[in-house]
Order: sequence, then C-alpha cells, then structure tokens
Amino acid sequence: MGTIEITKLGSAVLRKKSRSVGDERERICALLDKMAKVMYANKGVGLAAPQVGVDERVIIFDAGDGLVEIINPEIEHAEGSARSSEGCLSIPGAAVDVARAASIAVKGLNRDFEPVKFSLGGLPARIVQHELDHLNGVLIIDYLSFLKRKVFEKKWRKSSR
Ligand code: CO
Repeated sequence: MGTIEITKLGSAVLRKKSRSVGDERERICALLDKMAKVMYANKGVGLAAPQVGVDERVIIFDAGDGLVEIINPEIEHAEGSARSSEGCLSIPGAAVDVARAASIAVKGLNRDFEPVKFSLGGLPARIVQHELDHLNGVLIIDYLSFLKRKVFEKKWRKSSR
C-alpha cells in the first residue's frame, strides 16, 4: 500500500462538494477503517473521504494524540488567526502558507453516530480546517496567488504523477 490509494490533484472527486452522511454504520465504519489505513500508510496527519475517492462528509486526523474520526463535521465556532505551511497527500510536493482560525469548536458524529464535539487549537485545529476544505472541494493550492498557482499547475502537469 502506498500513495497509489490516494486520489491526486486532477481527479474530479477532489473538486466536488461532498454529501452529508446518513446513518449507514456498516458502510461508514468500513470507510473510516480504510481511511485510517491509508492515512497511516502514507504518514499523513489527516484525511478526508474524497482522498479515497468517496464524496461524503467524513474526516479523520491524528495529530499525535490518537485517531479522531468525525462524520458530518461542522465548525461551530472559530477564533483568532494563524498562518502556517501545509502539505496535502493529494498534492505531493506542494507546500502552501495558509491562514486558518487559531482555535475552533467542531461538532459531528462518531462512528457510532453519536454526537461529538471537540475544542481544538494548534495543529489539530489546522488539520480539521484543511480536511473540511476537502469536503467542499477546496485544496491548498487555491490559497496561492493566481500567478503562483499557474506556475504550480504547469509544473504539476509536466511531472508524470
Ligand atoms: Co489535503
């Protein structure tokens, strides 16, 4: 298993707005398991369902304190601003400075479809905002200036990924 399982820039599913998930525990648990496997195999700290080709609102992350799974995540509250460089498993080689809220409260459902809520700061807050972007078809290169983005896309097309 390698990066081959990750949907890469250029794939339509990465630009779609993902659908909310209904209560289909068995299917969603299988999806969550697959996502964790793919994330850890690729040494990622977060993953969104579109990155395994599924346009549904499911994200996972592990900022070093264990795996967190959130179904239908929604940011309830956001505060402050912090800028930092981000990468993305779907765009190997890209590193983009992105301004995010410094701290957030995010709610959603766990794998048992019970409501969960997390107050996050630092890296976990950044990861969740990055993964939520994926659910809305937004990628880190969208934060580049027009010119920088064009340069990156040209380079990307040239490389045979
Ligand atoms: Co990403």
